[in-house]
Amino acid sequence: MPAIPPLRLGVNVDHVATLRNARGGRVPDPVRAALLAIEAGADGITAHLREDRRHIRDEDMARLKAEISKPLNFEMAATAEMLQIALATQPHAACLVPERRTEVTTEGGLDVIGQRDALGPFIARLNDAGIRVSLFIAADPAQIEMAAKLKSPVIEIHVGAWCDAVVEGQKQKAEAEWQRIVAGAKLAQSAGLEVHAGHGLDYVTAEAISALPEIVELNIGHFMMGEAIFVGLPQTIRDMRAAMDRGRKSLRGHVRS
Ligand code: PXP
Repeated sequence: MPAIPPLRLGVNVDHVATLRNARGGRVPDPVRAALLAIEAGADGITAHLREDRRHIRDEDMARLKAEISKPLNFEMAATAEMLQIALATQPHAACLVPERRTEVTTEGGLDVIGQRDALGPFIARLNDAGIRVSLFIAADPAQIEMAAKLKSPVIEIHVGAWCDAVVEGQKQKAEAEWQRIVAGAKLAQSAGLEVHAGHGLDYVTAEAISALPEIVELNIGHFMMGEAIFVGLPQTIRDMRAAMDRGRKSLRGHVRS
């Protein structure tokens, strides 16, 4: 059986900034949350600088880059403004996401096929700058193949529909979404892409998805920040890490075709 790669936990600190911005001022500080998350076992920090700056702001991103010791994943729309900020910030990674002003959160994956003419040079600029590009896409074979064609080294599979179906107890839908994710992860890996997953994960879904050996990073925010209110951020990180480890360990003894 081939070695199972380790699974990284990327912690999204956007909603610490959401809470801060509800009152204005400086607290709670997303950079403090990032430092605490790293101390508790996070492998990286994700932050999304939205066009409307509804949570993370420019100075948060600059401070994250300056103050954290683990990789920074800069989530962004593929716009000229964000490209300029990313090139100036030099994060470890840039995750390109679709963005609509009216959405509450990132609602779907990027349409890599429809936007290939614009995304190709955009990805190339980031690749040339040494920033590891990830495209946030649905587990759709055609989108995955286009991501590889455009030379994105990484994709992040949008697992929100699966997570919602699990939480709502919609068994058939959950199973169909799960099968899409399993097939998508395999296809992406065979196309030479590194595979991440994110959106809507909680302890249950994170444990389940950790059993897919093709996936090497999970990016999780909302659920963990909610849990942190009740049990604290370090405990939440440790509990999530334990759920991921349980899922990964379940792979031992299974030879997957
Ligand atoms: N990955 C990406 C690309 C996202 O846009 C988000 C949401 O900001 C997440 C992961 C984290 O999702 P959640 O906050 O639901 O855990």
